[in-house]
Amino acid sequence: MPSPAQAAIARLPQADLKSIFTADPDRLSRFVLTQGPIRFDWSKTHLTDDLMDAYLTLAQERDFTGWREALFAGKPVNNSEGRAAEHPAERGEGNADSVARARMFHARMRALIDAVEAEALGPIRHILHIGIGGSALGPDLIVDALGGDGLRYDVAIVSNVDGTAMEQAINRFDPHTTLIAIASKTFTTTETMLNAASAINWMVEAGVDDPYGRVVALTASPDKAMEWGVDETRVLPFSESVGGRYSLWSSIGFPAALALGWDAFESLLEGAAAMDRHFRLSPPRENAPLIAAFADQYYTRIMGCQTRALFAYDERLKLLPSYLQQLEMESNGKSVTRDGDPVDGPTAPITWGGVGTDAQHAVFQLLHQGTVLAPVEFVASIDPGHALDPAHHRALLVNCFAQGAALLRGRDNPGDPARAYPGNRPSTTILLDDVTPEALGALIAFYEHRTFANAVLMGINPFDQFGVELGKEIARFIEADGPKGFDPSTMALIDIALGGG
Ligand code: F6P
Repeated sequence: MPSPAQAAIARLPQADLKSIFTADPDRLSRFVLTQGPIRFDWSKTHLTDDLMDAYLTLAQERDFTGWREALFAGKPVNNSEGRAAEHPAERGEGNADSVARARMFHARMRALIDAVEAEALGPIRHILHIGIGGSALGPDLIVDALGGDGLRYDVAIVSNVDGTAMEQAINRFDPHTTLIAIASKTFTTTETMLNAASAINWMVEAGVDDPYGRVVALTASPDKAMEWGVDETRVLPFSESVGGRYSLWSSIGFPAALALGWDAFESLLEGAAAMDRHFRLSPPRENAPLIAAFADQYYTRIMGCQTRALFAYDERLKLLPSYLQQLEMESNGKSVTRDGDPVDGPTAPITWGGVGTDAQHAVFQLLHQGTVLAPVEFVASIDPGHALDPAHHRALLVNCFAQGAALLRGRDNPGDPARAYPGNRPSTTILLDDVTPEALGALIAFYEHRTFANAVLMGINPFDQFGVELGKEIARFIEADGPKGFDPSTMALIDIALGGG
């Protein structure tokens, strides 16, 4: 049974984007918002004032303000696991005790970085960061986006259990000048532990003195790291209440802090903290993550969109779509509410995307003329971040803006349907002043809070991820006991490829 606000949202007429600026010439003043170094433009979406009002009522019905306060107060918003979700505390925002604890862990991390720089662990040129999911995607994004040719160390981030991934990384590194960073919140993840063992073997085979002395552990399970063989002085803990996919701000960000320098890492945290304050303190009508969540809810639940596409019109942000896939789909890809009841509508759409302009020559055909509707998000930077002919950046941005205009406007072509474009296809444009540590921190925090706001509006817990467990359990069972009692397809696959076990 829909709530009064949900019923009101469903009753509202759908706006026609082709004429939306004629119908509402003052739209930019209400659907564009600048927060620090980022300009958010929702004017080319179907959001209207009536819809905003209805969603604001839904936010009240769902006690958005109460949940937001609970998040920042360090209350157990992750109810299925009885835990808080304290990634804002890593940025200095939230519960005072948690902020103090995060500061203490950061100080420890910084001291170890100083020691590495002073060559206390021997000469280091390369960082081999081993981790998966949230223990890899965040550091990978930051190092790639902000590193350019200014990286102070050569960084490889290895996540996949496929030995080819590790082989490719170590083939380009010298074992005598490599630091291994093992990143795992639990310090039990199969892929990470297997890759870590192979990295140690690689050093042993190369005759490195004391390979374990070249290992740093980034974890919320320090005891397990020590049991594995990492000396306590090189264990960088973080709090259990920081979720894996929200952990890049903690010691999981170690390779980024080392390779980019501590100042850059701190600026990243400051950028995120500014977005935290914006999310926490701005009124709902001027709150960027909440407005974005309103649009998400409308497209997923009212217009039935099963996907949302994100295109980074900036090569520095090419890893953003894969980072967001984990953040959004692992958080909100749920079928039950936080009370365990079936959800009352679709939850997270599939997040997908790529890089502009490449994607224009691959997937944009479907976006313009296909039969499915996918809201599009463009992320671009005013500053090019390179010194080549400005014509490159001009062409990049012109293309980005042209795509949004084309999706909106479409083109009639009476008598030639193959060349007609329906238009009325929504897009959001997120424009950064530049891809700086502050702007990237703010952008990622914006996506975190948007994910949270979506979860609150749907009544779900975004901070657990039990859906990833069953497959892992079955894999462990097969490894331990051999294949028994599975379906014929699985049994045959194991038999053919693994010789029965
Ligand atoms: O399998 C999912 C997951 O638990 C993610 O949530 C997490 O980011 C990843 O595995 C890695 O976990 P860990 O940091 O404990 O190795």
